[in-house]
Amino acid sequence: MDRILVLDFGGQYAHLIANRLRRLKVLAEIVPGETKAEKLAGAKGLILSGGPASVYEEGSPQPDPAIFELKMPILGLCYGHQLIAKYLKGKVTPGSRKEYGKAELKVNDCTLFEDLSDTEQVWMSHGDLVEEVPEGFEIIGSTEDCKIAAMASDRIFGLQFHPEVTHTPNGMKILDNFIRMTGCRREWSMHSFLKEKIHELSRMEDDIFLLVSGGVDSTVCYALLKKAGCTVKGLHIDNGLLRMDESKEVLKAMPEIDFFDASEDFLEALKDVANPEEKRRIIGDKFVHVAEKAMKDMNADGWLLAQGTIYPDTIESRGTSHSALIKTHHNRVPLMQELIRQGKVIEPISQLYKDEVRELGLKLGLPHSMVWRHPFPGPGLAVRCLCSGHELEGFKHEDNALISRLAAPLKAVIAPVSSVGVQGDARTYRHPAIVYGKADWEALDSISHLPNKLGSINRVMYMVSDGEPQLDLHRAFITKKRLSLLRKVDKFVNSNVKDKDIWQFPVILIPMGGDYGESIILRPVMSREAMTATYAKLPLEDMRRLAKEIQAMGVDCVYYDITTKPPGTIEWE
Ligand code: XMP
Repeated sequence: MDRILVLDFGGQYAHLIANRLRRLKVLAEIVPGETKAEKLAGAKGLILSGGPASVYEEGSPQPDPAIFELKMPILGLCYGHQLIAKYLKGKVTPGSRKEYGKAELKVNDCTLFEDLSDTEQVWMSHGDLVEEVPEGFEIIGSTEDCKIAAMASDRIFGLQFHPEVTHTPNGMKILDNFIRMTGCRREWSMHSFLKEKIHELSRMEDDIFLLVSGGVDSTVCYALLKKAGCTVKGLHIDNGLLRMDESKEVLKAMPEIDFFDASEDFLEALKDVANPEEKRRIIGDKFVHVAEKAMKDMNADGWLLAQGTIYPDTIESRGTSHSALIKTHHNRVPLMQELIRQGKVIEPISQLYKDEVRELGLKLGLPHSMVWRHPFPGPGLAVRCLCSGHELEGFKHEDNALISRLAAPLKAVIAPVSSVGVQGDARTYRHPAIVYGKADWEALDSISHLPNKLGSINRVMYMVSDGEPQLDLHRAFITKKRLSLLRKVDKFVNSNVKDKDIWQFPVILIPMGGDYGESIILRPVMSREAMTATYAKLPLEDMRRLAKEIQAMGVDCVYYDITTKPPGTIEWE
């Protein structure tokens, strides 16, 4: 099938380019920026992504210079635009005025900008700029601060701005024009993806072993391998961190897969661990060890291991060579990376996003209820059961006075626990603010922006139980007792809201409180592909009622997370 390849130089939007092209029905694949030209020769066109570095900086990612000799259209975006200037002997300099955000582009007549107006809103995010175009190029667009915001030769184009983000309203039109110039046939659809994958997988001679958690991604992956006629053995591992009755339900839905109860093993390995990344590493490594052992026991030694990895798992785990680590997804721990390097792993849906995986699941004939299950993270309840290695009473954060002023007329305080967030493309690990008092959604919407005003916090939660927040932090790790409480509350909450249109509803247990020493956080979110999310706004009266019943299960306080992603992530760890 015809395709356009996206060379990834680490930009935060690199992955979006491929998604946008697929929406225009073109097969797009992301490859490392340094990929050798001969490996790219079969494509119809290339797009060079943005990136955080400077093109002349030592160690910054560089393309193979031979790519510019390939006889195909090339589009460079931001850093990619500057790479074109550097390699074809134009000039790039650090800009005296850096541009972030909205800009007005004065547009010249040219094929890339066909059907655009004379001025267009575009989205900029750069420090360096192209100061001289290479020989054979002309300027096709300028902004007030950037004379060479767009340049073109007969087949190579450079844009300083980002057509792939929604803040460039006509960006899709520009990408569409580029596609037309490549002559790439628009053959991509979920149907064609399925056909091509089946063709590719059915030619594989290896037997395949797949861990099936019962979640959407691994189940779709399993169904895909089966459809392709692969010899595939599915194994469901109970890691002791699943939701209530989860294993039972998975085995009922897929009776042919094998089952291995490794819960004691996982819980033993996690018994004194509080650090979130440490927990993730232990769980990921355990999965590899347990899978290897199970493969031996099942005489599947030497088989390929398949994973239902999807794109955000890779990007957030610093899976592309120049992106930042937000969190290590369980299928990206170092041990697994090693197996991938050795060519022992296949990941048939690794270029897709959640919304695309669901579409694929429906095409494969999986039931609607399965395909629309809420996503559940590989490390399971471990990332929703917060731990603490120490006791802390009377915690008073130095920004408490400031947060109270910013949150007024609501009361506010900073909590002693911390959670993972994603801010400015990088991981943060910071305290949340708790706001409390009488409020409606309008008041909470404005309060939810508090992390933009105060650097020491990355989340805001609203207290939906009565009284004052109880802030004593208790020494606590992952135990069966805590997991059992979390499971009970999770089941109760999710069955209470199951008719509501919510994308995902994590319930989190934190070792903070008074008599019981435990509190609960409700985290209902809306999302499309998990890269960004907003909090769902459920009726607060219902949440207050729910909170009372949750407290009766042995919980001190109940909070509702009102943080978008970014600055928070969906999960807390
Ligand atoms: P975050 O917390 O990064 O989550 O905003 C985005 C989505 O990914 C899920 N998630 C995971 N899924 N392995 C997975 O398979 C993981 O390690 C993992 N961590 C987070 C999360 O539930 C949400 O849907």
